[in-house]
Amino acid sequence: MRVRVCKSAKREQAGFQSIGPRGLWGNSLVSLRGLFLYNTGMTAEEKASVACFIDVASDMVRGGYFRGEREYNFSDEPDAVGSFDSLDEIAAALKNCKACRLCETRKNAVPGEGAQSPLVMVIGEAPGAEEDASGRPFVGKAGQLLDKMLGSINLSRETNCFIANIVKCRPPENRDPQPDEIAACAGFLESQIQTLNPRFILCVGRLSSQALLNSTEPIGKLRGRFMDCKIAGMTIPLIATYHPSALLRNEDYKRPAWDDLKMLRAALGSSESGAT
Ligand code: URA
Repeated sequence: MRVRVCKSAKREQAGFQSIGPRGLWGNSLVSLRGLFLYNTGMTAEEKASVACFIDVASDMVRGGYFRGEREYNFSDEPDAVGSFDSLDEIAAALKNCKACRLCETRKNAVPGEGAQSPLVMVIGEAPGAEEDASGRPFVGKAGQLLDKMLGSINLSRETNCFIANIVKCRPPENRDPQPDEIAACAGFLESQIQTLNPRFILCVGRLSSQALLNSTEPIGKLRGRFMDCKIAGMTIPLIATYHPSALLRNEDYKRPAWDDLKMLRAALGSSESGAT
């Protein structure tokens, strides 16, 4: 069900930018909205009113009150995000998910794949065309490079890694997923992390690193060290690095990405020997 709440241009057309700590607060409000809305039995119209209220508040703390049309595409169905018992249940719910506009253009939702008790959960941004067509994460060129990167430190999706994305459906034209789409999918990711309980998280790219660390810092500042990711009642060591597509575009990122992988390998070694 499509609910139109106010008039005029869409948020993204207004070129809205979040800057510094205000952006952080704004993003936190939007994430809160994601967790808040999808666990309730509200009607589509009620969800849209709450979402609109929170979006206006988040715009205000970001420093610019946005007046415009906001279109929300909620369904009346309660989306039981956050209350799954298994990865299969999460994948089944994703097939029918209509929590955001990406459901309108996806061919397949892409829940993720890999080891069920992984040492490392790798988290990317969102599926691209090949992932959308196959329903599997990281199967295109960037995925092939990701497999090589993981292989270089004895990790693979077949044995000890689970690979997923912060957003499970492809954004049209491969655009970045938007904050409300990330928020709408947050409960699925959180449930996956809760179920998988990985020893480490490896975030590839700016968007997943920022989302999981609740930060607006650029990837160049977030990478290169372990940080605590507090999620689903757990604290999991997280290391961020460049996205494999960035490595394919710019050779200069290869060296720092390799440094990050070596840090992960060292941490895995010491965690296996019981030192962490
Ligand atoms: N890029 C991502 O971030 N995720 C995928 O699954 C594919 C490409």
